[in-house]
Amino acid sequence: MTIHVIIVAAGSGSRFGAGLPKQFCELSGRPVLMTTIDAFRSALPEANIILVLSDPMRPLWQSMCDTHGYESPEIVSGGSSRAQSVSNAVLAIEGGCDDIVMIHDGARPLVDKDTIERVVGALAGADGAIPAIQVTDSIRLVSDDGSSVSVDRSKLRAVQTPQAFWFKPLEEAYRQAGEMSFTDDASLMESTRHGMIRLVEGSVENMKITNPGDMEIARIILERRKR
Ligand code: C5P
Repeated sequence: MTIHVIIVAAGSGSRFGAGLPKQFCELSGRPVLMTTIDAFRSALPEANIILVLSDPMRPLWQSMCDTHGYESPEIVSGGSSRAQSVSNAVLAIEGGCDDIVMIHDGARPLVDKDTIERVVGALAGADGAIPAIQVTDSIRLVSDDGSSVSVDRSKLRAVQTPQAFWFKPLEEAYRQAGEMSFTDDASLMESTRHGMIRLVEGSVENMKITNPGDMEIARIILERRKR
């Protein structure tokens, strides 16, 4: 049994506002992506890690690896959407029936060992396992005409990564997927006959760096963990 970890990092990070996609920006002295990859190298030392990058960013990543003396995982070319990027990586895996695939956003460098282990541990007897956290803001559902209604937040969960699935059903789902517009992999799997997704407790610290201020919060959390 092999655990394959796909780290998707082929996005352009348009909401982030920096010249560089957020996954390449500096977090405590090195690119965000190195912290993300190392979280999995340390939690799952035997895992097969696959890094998904857009082709234009490959030379930059290579030069960053040279600068930091960092060994890159195997690289697969990304696509025009997150789902397409995941699909490229899933279809590049030569795996067996009992192999597990974990898919993680490169822009979530603060994923911790406990979350990774909870997700892997919850996959037995399910089709997928994903971390989720309670929603703390009040939520409103907005209509096209601008009107809105409140939603019971106690029934809502914010979904994070890593998300884990069995290799064969995931491969089948991606082979058959039509339009690649879904924002996470559980959304694709639940549209198949392998749609029993188990939720496990995520972590508020496992944030996806999205807006400029997120990098500073991530740095503070990372520095605290190093102490
Ligand atoms: O855009 P968003 O923040 O939802 O992207 C989540 C993750 O998916 C990021 O790590 C991003 O780099 C990755 N992604 C990708 N290929 C794309 C778009 C996003 O690998 N075409």
